[in-house]
Amino acid sequence: MFQVPRGTRDFTPEEMEKRRYVEKAMTSTFLSYGYGEIQTPTFENRELFTEKSGESILNEIYAFTDKGGRELALRPELTAPVIRCYVERLQMEPKPLKLFYFGNCYRYDRPQKGRYREFRQAGCELIGVDTPEATAELLALAYTLLQNVGLKNLTMNIGNLTIIGTILKRFNLDANQQKTLLPLIDKSQFDDLLIALQDCGVPESKASQFVDILQTNDIEEIREYVIDDPSAVQELTEMESILGLLKTSFQISNYVIKLGIVRGLDYYRGIVFEIDAPVLGAEKQLCGGGSYDLVSLFGGTAVPTAGFAVGFDRTILALEAESFTFPSQNLDVYVIPVNQDMMTKTIEIVQQLRNHNLCADFDQLRRGMVKSLKYAASRRVGKVIIVGPKDLEHHAVTLRDMKSGNQESIPLSEIFKKLKTP
Ligand code: HAM
Repeated sequence: MFQVPRGTRDFTPEEMEKRRYVEKAMTSTFLSYGYGEIQTPTFENRELFTEKSGESILNEIYAFTDKGGRELALRPELTAPVIRCYVERLQMEPKPLKLFYFGNCYRYDRPQKGRYREFRQAGCELIGVDTPEATAELLALAYTLLQNVGLKNLTMNIGNLTIIGTILKRFNLDANQQKTLLPLIDKSQFDDLLIALQDCGVPESKASQFVDILQTNDIEEIREYVIDDPSAVQELTEMESILGLLKTSFQISNYVIKLGIVRGLDYYRGIVFEIDAPVLGAEKQLCGGGSYDLVSLFGGTAVPTAGFAVGFDRTILALEAESFTFPSQNLDVYVIPVNQDMMTKTIEIVQQLRNHNLCADFDQLRRGMVKSLKYAASRRVGKVIIVGPKDLEHHAVTLRDMKSGNQESIPLSEIFKKLKTP
């Protein structure tokens, strides 16, 4: 017996129906915000991912050497590939450039519910603009994208790496010390953070004041804390106008400021955000993003960039956990010949139905009527057409409503009209 590789999944037609529904809903939201779709390869040159994050990222990704000796890697995310494509081909495009994508990603993670080695992301990158209205719209899009697929319970946390950075600078920490502290901040492990800060020589009162700031949602309190640092104050003012627009113009007020959001990837700077579905428990983060710097690193002319990615698989888990009713794509009609002599006419009818954009299928196992009707019911078909010689003499067929069991003889010329009206 063969099994799927660890951390990967197959998707049955029923599961694919849910995935296609989510993809369609997300696509129309992206399009409604003026984004255009982009697709990049599943694998890239390995340096694309090590350039910013260093060789240590190799532990977390699927990297390999091909037959020509090229060092490649399956993409762990799509921001670096999209920016590579931008620098290679799209730099001359008018700004702002709004790009969205769907794509499978690969990470050598420890698999569990909501965490896979092959997973799908839906995301977007906004290139060439960083006005407060543009950033506010990006945050609004992330939230609306998840709302529009049908999710009810979402929380958005918004942080800022520039502000955290200037605060940490005051503590005179070296790069290694920062590397130990950031994951503790990210995971809200505040007790451990207090100890770690003191281990780094930060006095207890300063450390606990910092931990308080990480947890406050009060912008004034943060301002007070960074007041003697002009760049942090300026960043905070900018953030305030973004949040103001998000609330008043984009009508999204379900967010909290959380300076503890530091994000795992190395390319972020400035505003960062995450959206959670609390219903999911441990792996509840549905979306992550923010502003970042990669264009100049990849050899392009520096422009502002920001974006986010939604975990597609987790979005579906969250919808299921909220008992969302996914629209189903059933067959419109199933056609059953009463005997083998009726097969030619049956196929002719089925093909005509398909040409009229109806989803139709017919009995190909030469089963009896009872078994065929049972099969139609198992496929949740609403209507069945029975093709028999008596009806055909009058250019008619029998139409059976599967819910009521009612049957009526209807002229062949009327079946399309009849099937299209619910
Ligand atoms: P990320 O936070 O690493 O950000 O991933 C985005 C989302 O992908 C997560 O919030 C989560 O829902 C989902 N995800 C991550 N890893 C897994 C996994 N192993 N299994 C299932 N789902 C997972 C990025 O990837 C950035 N590129 C986002 C971005 C775009 N930033 C700017 N532009």
